[in-house]
Amino acid sequence: MTNVLVTGGAGYIGAHTCVALVEAGYSPVIYDNFHNSSADVLDRIEAICGRRPVLVQADVRDRAALDRTFADHRIQAVIHFAALKAVGESAAIPVDYYSVNIGGTLTLIEAMKAAGVRSLVFSSSATVYGEPASVPVRETFPLSATNTYGRTKLMGEMILEDLARAEPDWRIARLRYFNPFGAHESGLIGEDPHGVPNNLGPYIAKVASGELDQVSIFGDDYDTPDGTGVRDFIHVMDLAEGHIAALQGIAASPGLMTVNLGTGKGYSVRELIHAFEQASGQAIRFTIAPRRPGDVAQSYADPTLAENLLGWKARRGIQEMCRDTWRWQRRRSGAEA
Ligand code: NAD
Ligand code: WQD
Repeated sequence: MTNVLVTGGAGYIGAHTCVALVEAGYSPVIYDNFHNSSADVLDRIEAICGRRPVLVQADVRDRAALDRTFADHRIQAVIHFAALKAVGESAAIPVDYYSVNIGGTLTLIEAMKAAGVRSLVFSSSATVYGEPASVPVRETFPLSATNTYGRTKLMGEMILEDLARAEPDWRIARLRYFNPFGAHESGLIGEDPHGVPNNLGPYIAKVASGELDQVSIFGDDYDTPDGTGVRDFIHVMDLAEGHIAALQGIAASPGLMTVNLGTGKGYSVRELIHAFEQASGQAIRFTIAPRRPGDVAQSYADPTLAENLLGWKARRGIQEMCRDTWRWQRRRSGAEA
C-alpha cells in the first residue's frame, strides 16, 4: 500500500482528501500542527471510511520532525496542503505567511530530498491568475498576484518549477483550485472556519443556520449577468478526488504538471445564495455592500487539461455542494444527531 504524507491533512481540503485516499487504497499519514484544525477530524475520517489515518502533530517548518516522519512511515509521496490561507490576514501578518507557506514548502522539499521521496502534489490556487483577461481561465494564462497570500502561492509554484527543471526525476503536480465548497456527503466533515468566515460559502451557511444575520454581497455592479461576482465553485470531494488522479498522473510520468481543478461553470453570488436557500429551505437575508478591494468580476476554469491529462472531471453540482454543506452545518449546530 502506498503511504502518502498529507501535510495539512486535518484541514478542510486535506481531511476530504484523506477520505478519498483511503477509498482509493492509499494509506494517508496526516502531518498537521492544528493551527486551523483539530484532532477530532481523525475520529470523523475513521467513522466515514473505517480506517484511522496515522497522525503526526508537528509543524511543517520542523525539519527534524519531518525527517522522523519520513523514516518512521516509509512515505512514498507527499500531498502538501499545510499553509495559511486567509487573504486579509496575509496583509496583516505577511512574515507568518512567508514563513509557513514558503519556509514550510522549502523545508518539506529538503526533507523529501534527504529521504529520497520525489513525488509531490502541491496546493496552488486560481489566485495565481490575478485578474484574468478572459474566462474560462486556462493554465497558460499569465500569472500575477494581488495580495501576500497570492504571492506565496505564486512563489511556491516558481520554486517547484525551478526544482523540476534542475532535477528531472521529480514528479510534481501543481494543482490550481478554484473555489472549494461543500462537505462530505455524510455531513461528518466540512469546513469549520474560526470566527466570521471570509469566504462566501461558509458565510451563507451560517446565515442559513441563524448564526449570522445576513450576508453582504460585495458589489452588484460588475459586468456579469446579474452584476454580482462569478466564481467556479467546486465540490470539495471532487477536489479531493482530483488529488488521487494527480497522484496517479505523476506516478505514470516524471516531470512537472500544472492543472486547474474547477468545474468549468461559473455561478454568481446571487445564484449561490439562491441555491443554498433551495437546499436548506431557509430564507437567506442579504444586503448589497461595496465591492471588496482586490476582487475580480469573474473567474472560472477551463478544466479540459485535467480531463485530458488526468482523466478527472468534477461530477458534483451546486445543489450537492449546498446540500452537503447544509447537512454538515446542521450536524455541527446540533440540529441533527
Ligand atoms: P485549512 O486551513 O483548512 O487547512 C490547512 C491545514 O494546514 C490546517 O489543518 C492547518 O492546521 C495546517 N497548518 C497550517 N500551518 C501549518 C504548519 N505550519 N504546520 C503544519 N500544519 C499547518 O485550509 P484548506 O482550505 O484545507 O486549504 C488547503 C490548501 O489549499 C492550502 O495550501 C490553501 O492555500 C490551498 N487552497 C485553498 C483554497 C480554499 O479556498 N480553501 C483555495 C485554493 C487553494
Ligand atoms: C467569492 C465571491 C466575493 C464573501 C478566495 C481567495 C482565493 C481562494 C479562494 C485560497 C466574490 C463574494 C464573498 C461575502 C460576498 N483561496 N463575497 N460576500 O475571493 O473568489 O477567493 O478564496 O487560495 O485565493 O481569494 O472567494 O468566497 O471570498 O468570494 O459577496 O461575504 O463572493 O466578492 O465575488 P474568492 P470568496
